[in-house]
Amino acid sequence: MRAKRALLWSAAVAIVVGAAVAVTSCGGGGSTGGGAALKIALLLPESKTARYETQDKPLFEAKVKALCPDCQILYSNANQDATQQQSQAEAALANGAKVLVLDPVDFASAGAIVTKANAAKVPVISYDRLITNADLAYYVSFDNEKVGKLQGQALLDKLTADGNAGKTIVMINGAPTDNNAKLFKAGAHSVLDGKVKIGAEYDTPDWSPDKAQTEMDQAITKLGKDGFVGVYCANDGTAGGAIASMTGAGIDPKTRPTTGQDAELAAIQRILVGEQFMTIYKAIKPEAEATAMLAVALAKGESPPASLTLTTVNNGTKDVNSVILDPVPVTKDNVKATVVADGFWTAKDICTGAYAAACKAAGIQ
Ligand code: BGC
Repeated sequence: MRAKRALLWSAAVAIVVGAAVAVTSCGGGGSTGGGAALKIALLLPESKTARYETQDKPLFEAKVKALCPDCQILYSNANQDATQQQSQAEAALANGAKVLVLDPVDFASAGAIVTKANAAKVPVISYDRLITNADLAYYVSFDNEKVGKLQGQALLDKLTADGNAGKTIVMINGAPTDNNAKLFKAGAHSVLDGKVKIGAEYDTPDWSPDKAQTEMDQAITKLGKDGFVGVYCANDGTAGGAIASMTGAGIDPKTRPTTGQDAELAAIQRILVGEQFMTIYKAIKPEAEATAMLAVALAKGESPPASLTLTTVNNGTKDVNSVILDPVPVTKDNVKATVVADGFWTAKDICTGAYAAACKAAGIQ
């Protein structure tokens, strides 16, 4: 764990999966147009998950401003609506964006946005979620299959320690329109299949916490209150929904280890008091900053900064030059050594009223 953390923060970015490749050209992006602001569009997918508005957006903006004070960011959030995202991308292109940083609502239909952008000589960076079958300039994300494997393994280890190996669990996956959700699900299944029974499984449209809560209600009706020993949830939002459902049904969530992802503040607090078993910490700062570095280079028509280590990920059209970062599992035992040590959350953020005692017990103050 310590080695991983050191890696995470030892450089601005740079955990590499596979071999590094050299990049000589960056696909253009146009000139400054006689001193006018260089426009970079940031298109994020939704706002029900906390990370986008509280972390991705401000961290990306801060890095772009630091690298390019004259750059202007055209920001939009699609609120889970792929059609709206298409219009937002078109508006950004019409507004003179030199680069699109696109975290797609729908990985398949977003290809049309990339085609349109490229026709206008505007390169596209696929941010966090891969856009398949499209001519991308770059992809920046985490090792998402590993995220699913880490979630599945943590749950399996906990069930085994509790004497519950081989028993029934519920699986609440992410949105079928998100390529990451497919990877998380595949990674989790690769660990859990054959080791536990999957009594009920759902793909959650739009990753909505409220829909996850309804899915968990259905699972409890199907399996009975005592018919499952744990819950795989793909992220902290869906975990929050599943935990609310259990509580509403009179089940103590402390008795059903539940996974998550994003190290959201609410999830870290639930983990400390035992309501959620684990989450996955993805350091958004290096992800947003690597993307900002690439976007500014593209906007200026320059090569990518040498400090970035690139690998490739095939998206069906090409081997896309990519920055791939490393996810870290977090349970009560290492909240302090991960998210607190990295400053992702401070003790002050976490240890409010009801959580003060649990913080103290975990050595966080
Ligand atoms: C991201 C997760 C996020 C989820 C829901 C995924 O693509 O990688 O961090 O929780 O989308 O927005």
